Amino acid sequence: MKIDGVPHRTIWLAEDGQTVEVIDQTKLPFRFEVLPLKTVEDAANAIYTMVVRGAPLIGATAAYGMALAMADDPSDDNLEVAAEQLLKARPTAVNLRWAVNEMMAVLRNRPREERRAVAYRRAAEICDEDVEINASIGRNGLEILKEIAAKKPAGEPLNILTHCNAGWLATVDWGTATAPMYMAHDSGMNIHVWVDETRPRNQGAALTAYELGHHGVPHTVIADNTGGHLMQHGKVDIVITGTDRTTGSGDVCNKIGTYLKALAAKDNDVPFYVALPSPTIDFGLSDGVKGVPIEQRSGDEVSKMTGVTETGDVVTVDIVAQGSPVANYAFDVTPARLVTGLITEAGVCDASKAGIAALFPERSRDEAAE
Ligand code: MRU
Repeated sequence: MKIDGVPHRTIWLAEDGQTVEVIDQTKLPFRFEVLPLKTVEDAANAIYTMVVRGAPLIGATAAYGMALAMADDPSDDNLEVAAEQLLKARPTAVNLRWAVNEMMAVLRNRPREERRAVAYRRAAEICDEDVEINASIGRNGLEILKEIAAKKPAGEPLNILTHCNAGWLATVDWGTATAPMYMAHDSGMNIHVWVDETRPRNQGAALTAYELGHHGVPHTVIADNTGGHLMQHGKVDIVITGTDRTTGSGDVCNKIGTYLKALAAKDNDVPFYVALPSPTIDFGLSDGVKGVPIEQRSGDEVSKMTGVTETGDVVTVDIVAQGSPVANYAFDVTPARLVTGLITEAGVCDASKAGIAALFPERSRDEAAE
């Protein structure tokens, strides 16, 4: 997508053909900075510290992390160590495990002298595939938006609510939840996006708003607790979120607070869709509430906030009463019964085992059996 008219991806190979470069998302929206990743440690650290974040981009960064490891030392030992190191970086987004497995599959039985080139090639493919997948999600989601818009009085915008950042910054390009929005906007549809700020890290206020603003998509940032009120008053036509891991039976794990939006949507008959690439499906898992590992992060993310002053200084301040304990659960699980449908690259399906299996019969059969 474009920033000030210049096309960008979130991750790319530097001119030396070895270093990986990423947009440092901890600096957005106040500064646009590019960070070089030169080692697998750099890649793991970028994932852990959320320099890069969002399930598909975590996967893409892990793939390049494996390539960086092979450039350094293509031994069997290093292959295993690199995989382990990356897998530990964040627990919830299953795309990380998927990408590491994809890399292991092409590297494990390969002669050492070929591993570097093969790893860079597969990592680049994973990035290109992500862009293609998200474009398909966009096209499939656009049909849903058109259908809902057609039922609205002429001249009224289609109001879409989204949570966190499942935008192009969370992927290699396009985003998942945002892909249909960008396509709708680009095709001349009258849309408006309600952007949940998404405490504690504010991915909505900082990243989704940044993206939509730079692309010219009309949007409004709202406090996280506003969605239910807007739905009661007919101001939300559809909710679309992303996901970090969707079980083979359609339970959706996503950024903390997604579940509450789904409950409010159900109570108000607002369609609640989840956009996801197939690497986000964990076919081996059926009960999301019991089975998905929920990341708990530092309490500092809740007790502190970062912003920019009128003089342009970026500062961090405390916002919680001194001494009060804080808890920071990063994700929650929305049960499949609250999800209207899943928008994937292969089409739209029910959030159910049968719906998912119909779109992805092979992976569903092979991985569910493992
Ligand atoms: O903690 P984050 O910022 O990595 O969480 C991101 C989300 O929850 C996104 O909604 C999800 O990864 C889908 S990204 C297309």
